[in-house]
Amino acid sequence: MCGIMGYTGVEEAAPVLMDGLEALEYRGYDSAGLAVCTEGGSIIHIRAAGRIMNLADKLIQAAHEEVPVTGSCGIAHTRWATHGAPTEENAHPHRSATGLYTIVHNGIIENYEALRDSLEAEGIEFESETDTEVIAQLLEKHDTGDVLETLRTVLPLLEGSYALGILYYNAPGKIYCARKSSPLLIAKTKDGAYLASDAAALLKYSREILRLEDGEVAELEGGKVSVYAADGTPVRKVPIAVASHISAADKSGYTHFMRKEIDEQPEAVRRTLASFPGQFTPQTQQLLKDVRRVVFLGCGSAYYAGLVGRYLVEEGAGIPASAELASEFKALNPAIDDRTLLIVISQSGETADTLSALRFAKQKRARTLGIVNVEGSTIAQECDAVIYTKAGLEVAVATTKAYATQLSIIYCLAAALQGDYILIRKGVPVGGIVKQSDIHRLPDLIGEVLRRSAQPMFEWARAIHRAEHCYFLGRNIDYAAALEGSLKLKEISYIHAEAYPAGELKHGTISLVEEGTPIISVCCRPEVTPKTRSNMEECAARGAALYCITNDNSITVKNKLLLPRCNPLLAVSLSTIPLQLLAYHCAEMRGCAIDKPRNLAKSVTVE
Ligand code: AGP
Repeated sequence: MCGIMGYTGVEEAAPVLMDGLEALEYRGYDSAGLAVCTEGGSIIHIRAAGRIMNLADKLIQAAHEEVPVTGSCGIAHTRWATHGAPTEENAHPHRSATGLYTIVHNGIIENYEALRDSLEAEGIEFESETDTEVIAQLLEKHDTGDVLETLRTVLPLLEGSYALGILYYNAPGKIYCARKSSPLLIAKTKDGAYLASDAAALLKYSREILRLEDGEVAELEGGKVSVYAADGTPVRKVPIAVASHISAADKSGYTHFMRKEIDEQPEAVRRTLASFPGQFTPQTQQLLKDVRRVVFLGCGSAYYAGLVGRYLVEEGAGIPASAELASEFKALNPAIDDRTLLIVISQSGETADTLSALRFAKQKRARTLGIVNVEGSTIAQECDAVIYTKAGLEVAVATTKAYATQLSIIYCLAAALQGDYILIRKGVPVGGIVKQSDIHRLPDLIGEVLRRSAQPMFEWARAIHRAEHCYFLGRNIDYAAALEGSLKLKEISYIHAEAYPAGELKHGTISLVEEGTPIISVCCRPEVTPKTRSNMEECAARGAALYCITNDNSITVKNKLLLPRCNPLLAVSLSTIPLQLLAYHCAEMRGCAIDKPRNLAKSVTVE
């Protein structure tokens, strides 16, 4: 997703801006640019398609051509293309017709076409295909000489989401900001002020940040930050301490952040479990009382974590439960009410699809509990209550440690929910299916699985990394692990991978199975393993190469990874560990950009 960086103060702006863009690289992008107010009063504007190093090359070239990009106030941007190809012309910053306004933007202006049509009808010519340029042109059209006043006119015209950094030609040294639905953070030191899309770019300068809320605008000049509400009244912002996971911002000797974060999982889960009792306050517990339905909500891996929760809650607590894709949720027009507990899962806490679904559910009076990694993020703030995962800063786009910590909280919540429900099956009272004593074994179990997986996953990757297609199978809760394993493989190695409920393959997709097609099965639930074994045999009979992650030693597949003995329901968390390593090694062998896969962003802040 797009990244914004801005600085105004006593230092040279360009190096600060480039540092910030590098810290935001992990968010994913396909072009970059910056604009600096020079001492001479002009605004120099440099952009480049592709990686940030292309932009750095242009800065060097400008210096050689006697047009050095010097000045102590500027804005910068990494663009993840939404409207218009990833070209230099579409890269930010964008300027208004006369250069009066120069802006960077994260988000989507949903009514940009109508706005653009009316501006073009007035003779305004556009340079780019982007929605962002519409904002710059509108600012110039409505300019009154007072930027804050101009913003009060223009911002209400915009539908959709925006985080804006703005330079005004007649106010050198000042940066203006505005925010609606896309995050924007501000930090200040004694002689400088910074703005950024996320804390990773600010950690170097300050451990305290100001988070702009929807509708707020700000003016930065030197070490002074002034924030105003939409109607212009001043707002006093309380700084938020940024968890100082500065160590997470470096690889500590690993080749990739993802490999480091895979190894960090035992400690991340340990920290999270240790924090759970303190976070699970009486107020939060109240949200779970007399719940009639539980809905897990998320996107991607967060959704797959929710799927695990769905199985645990419905079976363990006897409460109807579902997992819903956030991007589909509103259109479902779901039957939810004040007896529905919506558990909103998000690493970044800024995913637009999830935020939009959360806001929709709150209108239907659902109770909302967030499981979020980034403290103070929008989703965390907008839920009735939040339980933070303690994964620390997760830099790799492909989530690993955040996902593992999400599951650890889900196990705890499932245990809490079943605590009120003793499930009577076959006349024998059972105390629910996941117990706290099981859960607290997770960190050590994950460490053991990491040790068992290291060599086998490297060997499996050597065998399958050239495959064009790969299928993952699982039944019941194991299907959730299969989905997560499939996503890890495809998102970083670009191998086409799909996960299927094991019984489903024979209803069509098995026609794609050829000699040597890799089929990776997760078999951890004893109740369903026999049937999954039959499905594996059906594939083997058609030449498939079988791989199996299981806790059942009687499975005789040649390529088998045996998990340590534990509650089979915890195995779904353990089985994703080898699948992360398998994906990592396949991507490495295929020479892929593991931490920053093509087309992907760490936090998708557009719907
Ligand atoms: C997972 O590896 C991906 N990065 C992606 O599926 C991610 O889980 C999804 O975009 C949700 O992000 P969030 O947890 O920050 O809301």
